[in-house]
Amino acid sequence: MTKENSKSPPGQFRGGRFTGGPAAIMEQINASIDVDKRLWREDIEGSLAHSAMLVKQGIITAQDGTAIEQGLKQIAREIESGAFQFSASLEDIHMNIEARLGQLIGAAAGRLHTARSRNDQVATDFRLWCRKQCRALQNEIKSLQWALCQQALTHASTAMPGFTHLQTAQPVTFGHHLLAYVEMLERDKGRLKDAARRMNESPLGAAALAGTSFPIDRIMTAKKLKFTRPMANSIDAVSARDFAVEMTAAIALCGVHLSRLAEELILWSSSQFGFVRLSEDFTTGSSIMPQKRNPDAAELCRAKSGQMIGSLNNLLVMLKGLPLAYAKDMQEDKQALFTACDGLGLCLGAMTGMIENLSVNKQAMKQAAGADHATATELADYLVRVENIPFREAHHITGRLVALAERQNCTLADLKIADMKRIDKRLSKEVRKVLSVESAIKMRHSYGGTAPERVKEQAQSWLGTFTKGTR
Ligand code: ARG
Repeated sequence: MTKENSKSPPGQFRGGRFTGGPAAIMEQINASIDVDKRLWREDIEGSLAHSAMLVKQGIITAQDGTAIEQGLKQIAREIESGAFQFSASLEDIHMNIEARLGQLIGAAAGRLHTARSRNDQVATDFRLWCRKQCRALQNEIKSLQWALCQQALTHASTAMPGFTHLQTAQPVTFGHHLLAYVEMLERDKGRLKDAARRMNESPLGAAALAGTSFPIDRIMTAKKLKFTRPMANSIDAVSARDFAVEMTAAIALCGVHLSRLAEELILWSSSQFGFVRLSEDFTTGSSIMPQKRNPDAAELCRAKSGQMIGSLNNLLVMLKGLPLAYAKDMQEDKQALFTACDGLGLCLGAMTGMIENLSVNKQAMKQAAGADHATATELADYLVRVENIPFREAHHITGRLVALAERQNCTLADLKIADMKRIDKRLSKEVRKVLSVESAIKMRHSYGGTAPERVKEQAQSWLGTFTKGTR
């Protein structure tokens, strides 16, 4: 027998049912402690609520309840200080804590698990953890939104090329572009908030899957743990993981949004664009090319969305076709969600830093904003507005002017009036006025448009709501 296949002594929780311990490889595949130890606070919180309820309902004595409470608080201190010894042979966080409780308070520890199973216990812990993390992520998103709004206010009238198909389309303001991300992030926050609201129901008391014969009070434990209500179906309570899927979906989408911003930072900071410079804090040098300044943090934000999408896929595939109620497959849910959460937390932090410290090359942006006949639409709009030419016709006339400018290798504004008039006699030197980047930007003052006055209003309104705490 190889070492891997040798058996360990019977563990504390194999009860009377088993004659020996599990194979070493069984212990390895079964143990989740390295991952789920992060649930320790929630596990203790849930156990404190459960034990208080057992006392109140007369299921255990007040004396045992007090011993359990003190023991659990002692364990919390041990874990906090790093003194706690986690053991893989005790499988998971629930058993690690229960075993330590036994060492600390003796037989009374064995009463804590009355009217409870690890199935409702883990579902409760995980919901509590996710609920807390949804809030934390919302706050981190808000910090990024704040940084974006500050830059948007600073750059409310900084011109840059707006793109479609990554081709220069029309001039926009840099502030306007940044505020687009603020809007996306607000929806991401909304999805996390929504997920947190829907997950906020208590599985505790569902026991293994069928409920319990003990006279428990599930409303009391739900209230203590600040859940809105106990889950109504005990089978659903232990089998449902859609809350984790929803949360991971919200995370993955936010990660995807960050990857778009990351990609733009990478492009903009390249010498080909030269629009922005990332601070040294968020770039690295090359080990061979001394001139390099690599946007590693942005690249990693771009890549990490892959992990988040992977986690979502992982959870969906894990759940697909899984019969009710609990199955051990579900133990894998935490790794997936933790990975997604950690990834997004890192990306949000790095992105906030990059945005806060971004320096902008207004000159390069403005020059690019006017390139490639980016103000051609202005000319067409002008012909509609002033000469009352139908837009399609105005578009056609402008197209011919663009072709002419291209042939002469000059800008629209450089065309000679006589040449313009040959294309359409209604064209006059007045049209030159609308061809400037500033004018193009200023003219787009429709609600939600790129005009500096609109951008300033939007940025200020966002900052105001953040300060008031209404978002
Ligand atoms: N560590 C387990 C998990 O995360 C706890 C539940 C175990 N329940 C069981 N019946 N084996 O899913």
